[in-house]
Amino acid sequence: MADIAVIGAGYVGLTTGTCLAHLGHNVTIADIDEIKVQKLNEGEVTIFEPGLSGLLTQGIENGNLKFVVGATSASRNAAFHFLCLPTPPNPDGSTNMEYFSSAIEEIKDILPPNSVIVNKSTLPVGTASQLKKQIQRTDVEIVSNPEFLSEGNAVQDFLQPSRIVIGAESQKAASSVAALFKDIDTTTQITGTESSELIKHTANAFLAMKLTFINEIATLCELVGANVLDVAEGIGYDPRIGSTYLRPGPGWGGSCFPKDSSSLLQTANKAGFDFELLEKAITLNQKHLQRTAQKVVNALPQGKEPENSKIAALGLTFKAGTDDLRSSPSLTVIEHLFNLNGRVSAYDPMVNLPIENMSKLEITSTAYEAANNADALVILTEWQEFADLNFERIREAMRHPIVVDARNLLNPQDLELLGFQYIGLGQ
Ligand code: UDX
Repeated sequence: MADIAVIGAGYVGLTTGTCLAHLGHNVTIADIDEIKVQKLNEGEVTIFEPGLSGLLTQGIENGNLKFVVGATSASRNAAFHFLCLPTPPNPDGSTNMEYFSSAIEEIKDILPPNSVIVNKSTLPVGTASQLKKQIQRTDVEIVSNPEFLSEGNAVQDFLQPSRIVIGAESQKAASSVAALFKDIDTTTQITGTESSELIKHTANAFLAMKLTFINEIATLCELVGANVLDVAEGIGYDPRIGSTYLRPGPGWGGSCFPKDSSSLLQTANKAGFDFELLEKAITLNQKHLQRTAQKVVNALPQGKEPENSKIAALGLTFKAGTDDLRSSPSLTVIEHLFNLNGRVSAYDPMVNLPIENMSKLEITSTAYEAANNADALVILTEWQEFADLNFERIREAMRHPIVVDARNLLNPQDLELLGFQYIGLGQ
């Protein structure tokens, strides 16, 4: 059992700290947001993550999980300091390190002797080496331990990971961090810090590239009369390809893939390497998002201009099972629809407030309301709730029974039997 400080109570820090407490460690999680700290100390989860609430309550009741305001009060008595701070993209795609640098400045002089700083958040290659210089402490080690948490599955991803990666410059530091996870049954890979940092960016960029590829294949399928679901299934039987991350969609997004792929691109550019393959994967994804919007406009009834039509959009979050709108492909597609003079009403089970900087977007409280008088309906997020809708009622509500299913969520035959014109993605 170790004394651990977790700096940052966001998607990564809250899951990391709560799960480390579940493993038996004595954990103090720090955040700058006093309201959030108060809510968490009262057992109120501030993000939508299945299983997190139970672990939070357990940690508080066991007395080995608490929340404080400010990094200093957490780090003062800890041996390990997990940095779980936001690493948002700068306009040029590089990583904004201001949250990290200010946290390091705040704690570097109060860290107890022989502390270990553990970089949990996704960071550009070379960050650990830079931080080592910044803290000017020969008795403090900096270890890279990237998170591989998918939103909506973060607790399981933490407690049952496909691997644990630890990047360190000393075997002693690596072993001390590995020991924190001794009760987790998985492979632990020890590397240098640069390799560990690059593993994280490479994993996300590769998954994003795989998605770009299947979305391009979906477009080709439409042109040659193939079915992308059959093609994805057929290639997925090959274990070298694997069947996951082959579901075509409107384009990929979220708080990680766009940020991590552009950060990796920046890292390569700064190192003097023109990473054309990754650049193309990113560009083609943007093109696919635009293509998705154009598909909706093209589906409008003959002679109906976008400016005189109403489009119902189902789904705003970046994927089902989360409440996260950050870099959501759904919002990007809707922006493109606005640029094509479309008028959009949208419904999402997890969104009931107007979207910042999207005042034109009408948010409805049910899917049926969004479908009311719509000339076309587009599925942008794969919420099961949308597959369970009463499509006879949807058809009655719409002006024209046209559905663009950008997630291939629905059954084409069922919709066509109900009188809909069904337009899928790659089928
Ligand atoms: C991702 C990585 O999966 C995770 O390992 C990493 O730690 C953080 O980034 P997350 O951002 O939560 O996790 O989203 P993920 O589930 O990977 O989906 C990313 C995007 O790809 C979403 O927009 C999703 O809709 C899309 N996607 C995913 C597809 O379009 N098709 C798929 O088959 C899978």
